[in-house]
Amino acid sequence: MSQAYPRPPAPPIPRQILGVWATLLRMRENLISAWPREAYVGGLLRRRFLGRWLVVANSPASVRHVMVDNAENYRKSDSTRKALNAIIGDGMFISQGELWRRQRRLAAPALQPSRIAPFAQVMLEAGNELLERWSKLPDGAEVDVGADMAGLAIDVICRSMFSHDLGDRARIVWDSFSVYQDVLGRFGAADLLDLRRHLPNLPNRKVSRATAALDAVLNDVIAKRIAEQTPRNDLLSMLLAARDAEPGKHLTDRQIRDEVAVIILAGHETTANALTWSWFLLSEFPDKLAALHEELKRVLGGRPPDFSDLDALNYTRAVFLEAMRLYPPIHTFSRHAIQDDAIGDAAVPAGSIVIVSPWLMHRHRGYWKNPEDFMPERFLPENDQGRDKHLYIPFGAGPRICLGAHFAMAEGVLLLAMLAQRFVLHLRPGHPVMPQALLTLRPRDGMPMRLERR
Ligand code: HEM
Repeated sequence: MSQAYPRPPAPPIPRQILGVWATLLRMRENLISAWPREAYVGGLLRRRFLGRWLVVANSPASVRHVMVDNAENYRKSDSTRKALNAIIGDGMFISQGELWRRQRRLAAPALQPSRIAPFAQVMLEAGNELLERWSKLPDGAEVDVGADMAGLAIDVICRSMFSHDLGDRARIVWDSFSVYQDVLGRFGAADLLDLRRHLPNLPNRKVSRATAALDAVLNDVIAKRIAEQTPRNDLLSMLLAARDAEPGKHLTDRQIRDEVAVIILAGHETTANALTWSWFLLSEFPDKLAALHEELKRVLGGRPPDFSDLDALNYTRAVFLEAMRLYPPIHTFSRHAIQDDAIGDAAVPAGSIVIVSPWLMHRHRGYWKNPEDFMPERFLPENDQGRDKHLYIPFGAGPRICLGAHFAMAEGVLLLAMLAQRFVLHLRPGHPVMPQALLTLRPRDGMPMRLERR
């Protein structure tokens, strides 16, 4: 097996601080390529940019300040809300204040760790169907891994949400979210600097059609489930039951639809992304792949994994965590300071844009040993002590931390284990791989890989 990338690829870091226009151009091309070297080595970065203060909080203490201790003062920007409003309404990912608190309280019980086991069954079923499809391909066939992982993750989240109620309409849900993401495009300066709020949301026929198609499917399934009055063991029934348990502050059917859309949106593209990068890294680092195979053989001995194996699959989990360190699916959080504040000694005037970047934090030269290398071992239980929990933040931090983190970890580990047990994936020789900051951090030129049976 040839190793085209001795180090996991990343855009070159500008040696000096760029001027405003050069920075904007880089941000437009690929946001993660705009950060200067000092953002990877220093503490807080603070700069006047297009009439506002831009503050990059890139130490664990400043991340903690912005996302946890003083989170009330740092709101998601209007641009983020505007970009996502058409598809998720006022859903939890972008809502604020009392509405957000109510939504979070409603959805949190359904995704708590003790509720994950039945969903693990769904993950395994969906994984099995992909394995069956791959098994029918001729040996050595090439697949688009990004598309296959996206299909798998949306399958998992739709079945967890609706049991098997969607049938052929799952395709409509999948297409609607894809159209939306294609139109939203890159996460660039307009989002980072909160400029999108000044831009009109131009009517876009593709988006309107996609949203209408999604609404039709979601509203129909929700209405039928309410009429049916027989709860099932899925996320939709859990959301409806939680709503009915709070009669005084009822969320409307429309708000339930928005929560469903949030969970589908937040829950598939991210996981698919982390799995795609995991396959890429394993294909480039044969010794790490061998260590993974050794664990699968030792723990599973040839049988498929199940939920009870999760605690024993330490190396598999470490691969997934390390892939999200190098390529965090959500690469940037952009917040807006409501009132004057200070982070350490640095003043943060009201109106500043404050950035927390998992991309920068996970590659910071001051906090990680060999930050640019793929070393899953750093996440093995024996090595994983004493790290500041605001340094590694693929799921965010504080009150808005990912609600689906336990679900996502179970999904990532089980699917990696079950697919790696049966297939080795090889990157197409010579294929260029570069992370690009879209809504999530995707491989710019896709991820074509050849399947080899084991
Ligand atoms: C590897 C997979 C995933 C990653 C890396 C990820 C990452 C994140 C991050 C970073 C946030 C916070 C964003 C911010 O503060 O601006 C978030 C929020 C959220 N995630 Fe995830 N996520 C993943 C999978 C999932 C899954 C599977 C679900 C649902 C089953 C989910 C549901 C949510 C929800 C509902 C929120 C909004 C929470 C709130 O605003 O209170 N996520 N996710």
